[in-house]
Amino acid sequence: MEIMNAHVVVTGASRGIGAAIAREMHKRGATVTVVARSADALAALADEIDGHALAADLTDRGELEGLIARAEAHAPVDVLVNNAGIDEAGLFWEMDADGLRRLIDLNVTAAMELTRQALPGMVERGRGHIVNLSSMASVGNFPGLTAYAATKAALSHFSAGLRADLRGLPVGVTNVQVGFVSPTDMTDKILEYGPTFRAQRRFDRLALLPRTDRDRLASAIMSAVEADRRHVLRPRRAWGLAKLTELPRRLVENVLVGVSARDQDPT
Ligand SMILES: NC(=O)c1ccc[n+]([C@@H]2O[C@H](COP(=O)([O-])OP(=O)(O)OC[C@H]3O[C@@H](n4cnc5c(N)ncnc54)[C@H](OP(=O)(O)O)[C@@H]3O)[C@@H](O)[C@H]2O)c1
Repeated sequence: MEIMNAHVVVTGASRGIGAAIAREMHKRGATVTVVARSADALAALADEIDGHALAADLTDRGELEGLIARAEAHAPVDVLVNNAGIDEAGLFWEMDADGLRRLIDLNVTAAMELTRQALPGMVERGRGHIVNLSSMASVGNFPGLTAYAATKAALSHFSAGLRADLRGLPVGVTNVQVGFVSPTDMTDKILEYGPTFRAQRRFDRLALLPRTDRDRLASAIMSAVEADRRHVLRPRRAWGLAKLTELPRRLVENVLVGVSARDQDPT
């Protein structure tokens, strides 16, 4: 899907990877609507990239409702980047109930709900693309990230299911599975937790999971949307981990070639 003149919505764009994706999309000629809670940071970015700001707490059901329709006040949404995400590094059973709910509400429910809102228009117009920001944590568990990793596994599986549902339609899906990204607040914060830090140090010593540069990642995501690639896997040397996890999904997908998810005839 061509980015030039497209309308791209990026969630979690007030900083970090989301802000880098918004800037990259703008550079390639898109009009970008940026979404997050921090209204001032969003307004400044929207100003810088000549885009639109939509302040919303995506864990708030009322604010989530109708969000794509509000973004479409400017133009139909061509690309939705489900980037907003949080982590809660710590022992799973020491999380409080609200923290766990917020994690699932943002990392899973908001991404699925916004996709649900965006897809009917994309399918009708015969043009669209969904990007989900998953993680290498979705394929391997790091200490301290049990709940976070489970939300990212859900997102990766969701991406695969969406692609199967959309097979044959000109609407694409890209799942982004990435290790530690720098510079980001998220990476800084989770590495303050001892067990996660030590796990990362082990991977570092084995030279298995070098940090991915935030701006290079944004550029790779942009290219993947343009080329309709189903995955962005970083760092490249860890691609085997992600591919092995993807294998059963691909096997089922191939067995089911010709069985349309959209043909609702009971026979
Ligand atoms: N950093 C990494 O190493 C890494 C690795 C793999 C995957 N990822 C994934 O990449 C995505 C972006 O991560 P990042 O490192 O850029 O994180 P970040 O720097 O912490 O930024 C998170 C973004 O999400 C927004 N956000 C948080 N809570 C929100 C809410 N309730 N409603 C709306 N927006 C909310 C934040 O803005 P406000 O606070 O203004 O709302 C911010 O713009 C996440 O999904 C993350 O899981 C990151």
